[in-house]
Amino acid sequence: MRTDVIDHVTDSQGLSVPLYGPEAFEGLRRAGRLAAATLDHISPYVCPGVATAELDRRIEAFVRGGGGIPATLGYKGYPASSCISVNHVVNHGIPSEDKRLVEGDIVNVDVTVILDGWYGDTSRMWLVGERVRVQARKLVDVTYEAMMAGIEQVAPGAHLGDVGAAIMEVAHANRFSVVTEFCGHGIGHGFHQPPQVMHVGMRGRDMVLVPGMVFTIEPMINAGRPDTKVLADGWTAVTRDRSLSAQFEHQVGVTRTGVEIFTLSPAGLHRPPYGP
Ligand code: MF3
Ligand code: CO
Ligand code: CO
Repeated sequence: MRTDVIDHVTDSQGLSVPLYGPEAFEGLRRAGRLAAATLDHISPYVCPGVATAELDRRIEAFVRGGGGIPATLGYKGYPASSCISVNHVVNHGIPSEDKRLVEGDIVNVDVTVILDGWYGDTSRMWLVGERVRVQARKLVDVTYEAMMAGIEQVAPGAHLGDVGAAIMEVAHANRFSVVTEFCGHGIGHGFHQPPQVMHVGMRGRDMVLVPGMVFTIEPMINAGRPDTKVLADGWTAVTRDRSLSAQFEHQVGVTRTGVEIFTLSPAGLHRPPYGP
């Protein structure tokens, strides 16, 4: 008998949401730790002049060295082991030899691993060099605060709408906008599962959280308008007005008393600046 999935509940769209048990939580903890350690590992290399393809190679090597598989490689035809999204790229930037980071960029690196069948998904922002503009730094700070405000809502009996509302309030209080074309997602023994986790919402609305639910919270916050478009490569999403966009992502589980974050940085590199 499987003891990893202990039950199911139904989300607001009628889709089945698995509830994971203690064995699953142990597997998810390990997968989340490997994904987070991968971001720690590449942090010293995120600097002016580096090609995003070089970061991707280091990510693939570290994930495989840890016994994992890069989950994005070949996923729906995606060609790389990470997504690396610079400045006005919202998400799903494809690493490239031709794309080199320059002084003043802001960049998101998003890594998903599969370890012993369990998925771990996390992303962080970096400030490239020492001369990132004040408004760009503020966008990165506010996006981190928005993600953490969303995570703080997670507990049994809370609603998914509470999570979206908390994120939206932080963004709007700072005159930034929230992307609605991409969501967080259930995750566990699959990559993208129900429920959809919107980064906007109304308190008391949408699914009630129960212990054993596992999902990501990964708000994308724009300095300008919220609208996005996907480029001709079929992956890279950008802001339509070319304003800056930032994102952080944690994978969390609902516990009996609150929330567990599976993807905390083992090195304490939670938000930039990450120091020397
Ligand atoms: N890691 C991304 C997420 O947070 C998904 C990337 S899918 C890819 O959900 F195919 F674009 F890599
Ligand atoms: Co995700
Ligand atoms: Co991700």
